[in-house]
Amino acid sequence: MMIVNKLTNMVRPGTVAVVGASSKQGKIGHTVLNNIISCGYKGKIYPINPKETEIEGIQAYQSVADLPEPIDLAVIAVPASLVPGVVEDCGRIGVKYLVIITAGFKEIGAEGLEMEKKIIETCREHGMRLLGPNVVGFIDTHTPINASFAATFPQKGEIAFLSQSGAMLVAILDWSLSSGLGFSKVVSLGNKADLSEIDFIEDAADDPNTKVILCYIEDIVDGPRFLDVASRAACKKPVIVIKSGTSQAGAQAASSHTGALAGSDLAYDVAFRQCGVIRARSMTELFNLAVAFARSPVPAGKKVAIITNSGGPGIIATDNVENYGLQMARFTKDTIDALRGTLPVEANVYNPVDVLGDAKADRYRFALQKVCADPNVDSVVVLMCPTGVTQPVETSQAILEAKKAYPEKPILAAYMGGETLARGSAMLAEGGVPCFTFPEPAISCISGLVRYNEMLQKQEEAAAQMSRIDQKGAKAVFYDVIKDNRLVLLGSEAAEVANCYGIPVAPTVLATTPEEAALEADKMGYPVVMKVASPKILHKTDVGGVIVGLKNSDEVRRAYLEIMDNVYGYMPQAVVYGVEVQKMMPKGTELIIGMTKDIQFGPLVGFGLGGIYVNLLKDVSFRLARGLTSGEVEKMLQETKAYTLLRGYRGEKPRDIAALTDVILRVAALVNDFPEITEMDINPVFAYEEGLSALDIKITIS
Ligand code: COA
Repeated sequence: MMIVNKLTNMVRPGTVAVVGASSKQGKIGHTVLNNIISCGYKGKIYPINPKETEIEGIQAYQSVADLPEPIDLAVIAVPASLVPGVVEDCGRIGVKYLVIITAGFKEIGAEGLEMEKKIIETCREHGMRLLGPNVVGFIDTHTPINASFAATFPQKGEIAFLSQSGAMLVAILDWSLSSGLGFSKVVSLGNKADLSEIDFIEDAADDPNTKVILCYIEDIVDGPRFLDVASRAACKKPVIVIKSGTSQAGAQAASSHTGALAGSDLAYDVAFRQCGVIRARSMTELFNLAVAFARSPVPAGKKVAIITNSGGPGIIATDNVENYGLQMARFTKDTIDALRGTLPVEANVYNPVDVLGDAKADRYRFALQKVCADPNVDSVVVLMCPTGVTQPVETSQAILEAKKAYPEKPILAAYMGGETLARGSAMLAEGGVPCFTFPEPAISCISGLVRYNEMLQKQEEAAAQMSRIDQKGAKAVFYDVIKDNRLVLLGSEAAEVANCYGIPVAPTVLATTPEEAALEADKMGYPVVMKVASPKILHKTDVGGVIVGLKNSDEVRRAYLEIMDNVYGYMPQAVVYGVEVQKMMPKGTELIIGMTKDIQFGPLVGFGLGGIYVNLLKDVSFRLARGLTSGEVEKMLQETKAYTLLRGYRGEKPRDIAALTDVILRVAALVNDFPEITEMDINPVFAYEEGLSALDIKITIS
């Protein structure tokens, strides 16, 4: 049975059945039906109740099996024990999507889990997609549909909110009415037996009505798919996540140095950062960021200007700018001269601009015009404390004019006070200028906007860097290996794969006769090393399978025969494919680049010092391969002691860190493109002043 993938039809159904629809006030089945009717849903509604013929003036049916047509969506609110039977009926009549509001499944233990599994089986059998069980339901304000038992229907807006907690969702909906926040859709994820945040992020990324995606999640079930979907979504629009359960114990249990990240808070941190998801640390920050992203442009850079009517808050905001990794803008001479020419002599014309406590709207207006026009300013924060002469409403007017005149620069405000400023701040909220009570959230929002912009730029860079990749070529090598009934690649095959991905590797070729070996060695130049090529021989040196330092074709021919003699002497039964000829490379700083798998988020790329001390020093650091950027690689390198060596220790010349970064990114691209790679190690990699060279590459596939 084909599985339906697009969720568009789920949130825009033509027909909806409410199973367990009730005429009794106060019952969930009553609320759901009423919510669908009262939100203005335009499709056909089918209430299902064995005891009723009509509910809320709409013809009711005794069971799903009696419905006159296959329907798009069934919302189920009958007791848990009845749910499997209802789901069976839905499958039989061709329902496409289910929302199971009923609780009492996986969350109550083994018995519930069994029932949930059975429901999923039925859904798979009939190609139905399921939201739930144990959900409040979902809302799409643009359809409109309210397939939930929430008490409120939110305002139409551009925020998609996905929540694993139903309680959190209804609380936010209620609060949104007074805060003026609008939503495109709101989804309660519940037990995520089938559809999860991943499916809805994917859907919201392509939804023209959604500008910002917000998630409250407690866990991620399919880590690799989350990374894949979220990183693609984050390139289209901001994805902001709050993840609960960030306990200290979890964070301590894992470290990025062990490569075992799974389940820990750190794993989520790394995963979110690398796929470009913005992580909010509190519910307040989540919604502040949502407002900022929905209403403000993304600034070109991190230079912030502050305009204030009092010194203290200006200093606090300046501190925040620094703490959030932003910069105070340095105004041009023109701006400073203009401000000095018009503002009172006591005013501070440098950043933060202090228009003084007696400032009326005109001073704010003038300062805003000059500061917004300054090319060194990327975003502006306006602070106001209420004095007897401040003009909150008129100042808000000036801010809204500036927003209109400079639509590419975010302008945020902090009106520090209560009653006196209420009308002014409401005007700003309505006009699309995020306004807070204190400076900190305003600066934190700008930091979120800036981080998002930096992420987009890095993704673009990474895509540009990853040119020169021949995925098909690598695929052909893996195909041949599997056809040959092997899982471990020969050195020459691994070198070919590396070549396809632009990883500089010492020339390595398989020869099957002494003559061929001599010919290849002539081509690549001397000296060369020769190694027996056999999938069965792991420790080649121990069986006399490696001879180094061969300087001419005669030595190569002799070495070929000697290696064959040695190997057959030690292991007469070994299957030998020939002898690999590899160009000997000048010695460089010995490094290791490897790959391991995190059970939750998939491939991790590791980097560390190579050579004989590798086990002693355990000098390695890891990052998730998915979404790895040059900035992240730089941090990863800095975490190791090897970094000191690479930068040139005690008078040594520095190694080519840019080339190393490029190779690590290419290894990440390779293991991302081929999930069948279960192990990969490049040991050693020689790093030089210019460039580097991979010598021994081991790749195992499944
Ligand atoms: N098809 C359609 N309707 C059926 C039915 C069937 N096979 N079998 C029974 N019904 C009707 C009932 O007759 C009843 O209608 P009535 O009010 O006219 O009598 C209605 O479905 C509901 O059944 P009832 O037995 O009264 O259940 P309930 O309303 O007390 O509870 C749930 C049902 C789903 C609300 C409850 O089981 C539940 O799960 N509550 C928790 C929900 C929750 O918290 N979800 C998670 C949020 S985060």
